[in-house]
Amino acid sequence: MAELIVALDVASTAEVEQTVGRLGDAVTFYKIGLELFSAAGPDVVRAVKSRGKRVFLDLKLHDIPRTVERAVSAGASLGVDLMTIHAAGGKAMIRAAKSAALAAGADAPKILAVTILTSLDQSDLDDIGITRSMTAQVEALGRLACGNGADGIVCSPREVAALRAALGPQALLVTPGVRPAGAEVGDQKRVATPAQAVADGSTHLVVGRPILAAADPRAAARAIAAEMAHSPNS
Ligand code: C5P
Repeated sequence: MAELIVALDVASTAEVEQTVGRLGDAVTFYKIGLELFSAAGPDVVRAVKSRGKRVFLDLKLHDIPRTVERAVSAGASLGVDLMTIHAAGGKAMIRAAKSAALAAGADAPKILAVTILTSLDQSDLDDIGITRSMTAQVEALGRLACGNGADGIVCSPREVAALRAALGPQALLVTPGVRPAGAEVGDQKRVATPAQAVADGSTHLVVGRPILAAADPRAAARAIAAEMAHSPNS
């Protein structure tokens, strides 16, 4: 069944403690991104893990294989459950990330690859010398990642159906840009509802503001989880 991950887009460990406490048992999985990790460090991961929650550490690693391998080992030793790398780091880097994860044994974090950041468009691809179409490039990088040990990829809800077809039934497909029907879209441009994303093949939905900014965040999280559970693919 698809899982809900709440993006901890807050600035400090104190706010994290408050948010995780407030959401209680309505949420079991949290995303910690580069901004929070840079501000609060590994202690913020320990704080969330110590409450019995799972952690998606979204640092989008992209470096030489040895460095990525060591960074994944460090994440694994914190007990994180999901970590991200850039597929564009290439085969050796992807394999190094996976081998570092597997070395953690039964609690090995799953490795997700980022293909093309959603902040880039076709003209940005031209600037960096990529001549394939955006769709072809996303799919090629998804295949490269999953063909070299990545457990799945992060993608927009609009890409999920095509990527599920391209990458097969095992791949994790983790999608931000999810908005319940009628919710504020904010700065997200390509959104889908939770039910639609799951129906298209998402295995994990990453949701921030629709929960964190809700008058009753716990109720908002429960409503999204219920919508996911009622999707035809769940
Ligand atoms: O508040 P919202 O639900 O838009 O938060 C979505 C989360 O997913 C944020 O942490 C955002 O940085 C992240 N994200 C995204 N789009 C991407 C990649 C990550 O919204 N393409």
